[in-house]
Amino acid sequence: MKILVLNGSPKKDKSDTMHITRAFIEGMNEVESNDVHIIDIIDKQIEYCAGCFSCMRNGGKCIHNDDMRALLEEILQSNLLIFSYPLYCYGMPAPLKAFMDRTLPLSSMAMHKVGDRYEHIGQADFSKLKYLMICGCGFPNSKHNFEPAVAQFKNCFPNNHTTITVPESPMFNSPEAAVVTAPRLELVKKAGKQYAETGRISEELMAEICSPMIPEQQYAEIVNSTVK
Ligand SMILES: Cc1cc2nc3c(=O)[nH]c(=O)nc-3n(C[C@H](O)[C@H](O)[C@H](O)COP(=O)(O)O)c2cc1C
Repeated sequence: MKILVLNGSPKKDKSDTMHITRAFIEGMNEVESNDVHIIDIIDKQIEYCAGCFSCMRNGGKCIHNDDMRALLEEILQSNLLIFSYPLYCYGMPAPLKAFMDRTLPLSSMAMHKVGDRYEHIGQADFSKLKYLMICGCGFPNSKHNFEPAVAQFKNCFPNNHTTITVPESPMFNSPEAAVVTAPRLELVKKAGKQYAETGRISEELMAEICSPMIPEQQYAEIVNSTVK
């Protein structure tokens, strides 16, 4: 399987979230070895979408000639897109959002109704492409935090999507927290293996992965003690 990892953290390989993503891929690779390409979005030249829609009318060509051309080609050759990013203001970091906007040339202006909503018709067949969101965040609570990002991801990719959201993720970069982060990363690895084998992650495993690693209040107290 060709896996394209879109790392939306400006911290690149120092990203808290990438600890989760690497563990997931490790689990997938236990089932079969995959061709994995990690792209640090922050390093790419990606102009903002100009909103001109010429890509949707002009055989899929964007007016900008930047790194997005090669990235769109790479998407077309991939089997799985992993969006790995930290939650920023309840959504994705701006450079990754710029990337998302610039995937417009993959759609045509034509729309059709699917269930009770409209979708653009793709300029290629994306029915086999799978989409995984792995999102870390700094608060201890999952509720009233990840929902906008998850909703955006599901609306953008209505088919074949999976979302993993992990609170308290700065702990992944803290060696003192290994007692709780190491077992969590083992669960993530198990999820990667399960996903490679079955195309899904069981509800029980997902609930464990997406829960706080230490009690919310304890986490808040630890964080607060470092800023005093
Ligand atoms: C600009 C900015 C906005 C943030 N917004 C949120 C937020 O809405 N909710 C949250 O829980 N954490 C938020 N955080 C914290 C990050 O999600 C958290 O530090 C995360 O672990 C960083 O992951 P990374 O190392 O993969 O970049 C924000 C951080 C920054 C810098």
